[in-house]
Amino acid sequence: MKEKLQKIKEEATAAINDVNADLEQIRIKYLGKKGELTSVLRGMGQLSAEERPIVGQIANEVRAYIEEQLASLVEKQKAAATAKKLAAEKIDVTVPGTASSVGKLHPLTKIQREMENIFLNMGFTIAEGPEVEYDYYNFQALNIPENHPARDTQDTFYISDNVLLRSQTSPVQVRTMEKQAPPIRVISPGRVYRSDAVDATHSPLFHQLEGLVVDKGITMGDLKGTLALFAQTMFGSETKIRFRPHHFPFTEPSAEVDVSCFVCGGKGCRLCKGEGWIEILGAGMVHPEVLRNCNIDPDEYSGFAFGMGIERIAMLSYKIDDMRMLYENDIRFLSQF
Ligand code: PHE
Repeated sequence: MKEKLQKIKEEATAAINDVNADLEQIRIKYLGKKGELTSVLRGMGQLSAEERPIVGQIANEVRAYIEEQLASLVEKQKAAATAKKLAAEKIDVTVPGTASSVGKLHPLTKIQREMENIFLNMGFTIAEGPEVEYDYYNFQALNIPENHPARDTQDTFYISDNVLLRSQTSPVQVRTMEKQAPPIRVISPGRVYRSDAVDATHSPLFHQLEGLVVDKGITMGDLKGTLALFAQTMFGSETKIRFRPHHFPFTEPSAEVDVSCFVCGGKGCRLCKGEGWIEILGAGMVHPEVLRNCNIDPDEYSGFAFGMGIERIAMLSYKIDDMRMLYENDIRFLSQF
């Protein structure tokens, strides 16, 4: 029996020494209820009274030994698993990282927001209108009846006889005045459409920013002051503005407004084509007929309006000489802003 116990001990040790050993199987095989050691212990009844305690002691020693070996193997296997996991998850901190590219605003959006902020700081709020517009708002209410020559310069895309893609943001003037009683102080940026062929300075889709102020006692002086402050904030504090007489059917008097060239300061250079001045917008005092169309009494109220191309301001600010660059979505171009 002693020999048998010795053999069990040796076999169990050999089994345990195999690192890939299945511990549970070993435990069942040697220590389990039907295990080898248990069956030896069961046979102890056949032993003599002197032998029994000796064999019992050896059996207990073997059991303790196997348990100890199993426990240490559990530890070894755990350590091996951890080491394997660590090796597999090893991070090489010296490998160069993959840079995540951060997007940014389109130059047109940036300039539009800059323009908006200048007017918001002056107390204007933003008004919006539809891009698909009625002929009435885009033309008729703005004092441009059917067959008026001004329609030629703003030929657009028609959805039906009286529905079109707006050719200017000025219809938002009318929509605002219909909804809101003076005092009115709004700007309205947005897309406009004209059936123009694409070239360096034209696009069938572009953006304008409209301005409208209506209140008692509004004069051309208010218009000049507002636009001067805008120009100085946008192009630099030295910037001057110049009004040239012009004609728009919905303003009277009307003007085209130039800013002094912010590159040469007015001496004449490539940007201003030697003029010293750069045209940036159209403006004027809201025509009494337009006020009347919106149920505002021109004897009580007066107002001014202006409209400018956002592409034009962006091209001037960023010195972009071809408008198409703004729409081509070439990352090499866009990432410069
Ligand atoms: N809507 C005019 C245009 O597109 C600009 C403008 C707006 C002129 C407001 C006067 C007043 O040319």
